[in-house]
Amino acid sequence: MKIVGISGSLRKGSVNTKLLHACARLLPNDVEFEEASIDLPLFDDNHGNNLPDSVQKLNDLVKNSDALFITCPEHNWNMTAAMKNAIDWLSLGGKDSALNNQVVALAGIGGGRLGSVRAQMAIRSTLLHDRVWVVPGPEVLIAPSETMFDEKGDLTDPIAIQLVTNILGELIRVSPLLRT
Ligand SMILES: Cc1cc2nc3c(=O)[nH]c(=O)nc-3n(C[C@H](O)[C@H](O)[C@H](O)COP(=O)(O)O)c2cc1C
Repeated sequence: MKIVGISGSLRKGSVNTKLLHACARLLPNDVEFEEASIDLPLFDDNHGNNLPDSVQKLNDLVKNSDALFITCPEHNWNMTAAMKNAIDWLSLGGKDSALNNQVVALAGIGGGRLGSVRAQMAIRSTLLHDRVWVVPGPEVLIAPSETMFDEKGDLTDPIAIQLVTNILGELIRVSPLLRT
């Protein structure tokens, strides 16, 4: 099984990118993981089938994966513009899109105690439009703290580790069932 990981933050030093990397290290050894970049041109619907190289690369990665794992911060009670932009690009093609029938799990570190919940709700409802199966839970909502990662970049909080282990386990369990 191959999981493609996406961080919804383009910020250098992003804690959500750090979270993505920490989660990848918690995956079982027989699961392949590859990170996809969403540093893409702004979607303008002027390209037809000639996708920019960065978009084509993302599209191919998503199409050739068994599941996606997205970590995303919250910007203005929503997902980041970069995340929405990536979803817009990936949604091209309707029923033949890279997103159609994909399986996605979400996690995030927001700016406050709600830990990105509104960003995740926004991603969830947007992906529903694109016929994506979004794993219902557990919700992985992590509040920021200076000690949330150790010096190696691994998560320190046992509850956060349990939550991400559980959501990744669910993703691995349901992906083969839903994609048949
Ligand atoms: C423009 C902007 C808007 C933000 N809006 C919210 C928000 O609505 N809710 C929230 O919890 N945090 C908000 N934040 C805080 C970020 O979600 C928070 O700093 C997050 O940890 C950044 O993640 P990153 O390091 O992965 O980029 C906002 C930050 C910025 C820059």
